[in-house]
Amino acid sequence: MKKPILALVLASMAAGTTLAALADETNPAIVHRQGIYKTMAGHMTAMKSILFLGFEAPQDLSFHAQGILDSFMHMGNSYPPGSDKGETKAKPEIWSQPEKVKQRAMDAVGAAKDLVAATSGSDKKVMVTAFKTMGEKCKACHDDFRKE
Ligand code: HEC
Repeated sequence: MKKPILALVLASMAAGTTLAALADETNPAIVHRQGIYKTMAGHMTAMKSILFLGFEAPQDLSFHAQGILDSFMHMGNSYPPGSDKGETKAKPEIWSQPEKVKQRAMDAVGAAKDLVAATSGSDKKVMVTAFKTMGEKCKACHDDFRKE
């Protein structure tokens, strides 16, 4: 009896995912970049719980930092022509100011690398500083290129 139950659970999970996450957006670049950004945000949230709220998993901080860096490395071509069509919060400036977007992205990748380095050590103050800098770099790009 175990198998049918598992299959049922998986099927209902898949249905839930389709409804919640995919909505009706079908532009692959939009769906992909939003998924990657959410992955980063999940790592940030988990790190926050460990650094500031006392969740006891300090050994996981480097995993989350690496996850953020890896996510940036797997953004792919996130803003190809035509990916302004759909349910996106990307501002038109994304396509008219590519050099500035690139700079914001490079800044964020630099901060992610610093976060990986910080979490491989044992100095919590250094980690907190690197975490805050990471958040500032996310925000800097959002301020310029993401709609409210
Ligand atoms: C180079 C610019 C840039 C950087 C850097 C950046 N973002 Fe974003 N982010 C955007 C843009 C633009 C959108 C809107 C994308 C869309 O709706 O198509 C977005 C969307 C998001 C979303 C919403 C995704 C959704 O489901 O719609 C989250 C969450 C997010 N970013 C988190 C982060 C976090 C956390 C970081 C840093 C670790 C980060 N972002 C770094 C530009 C950036």
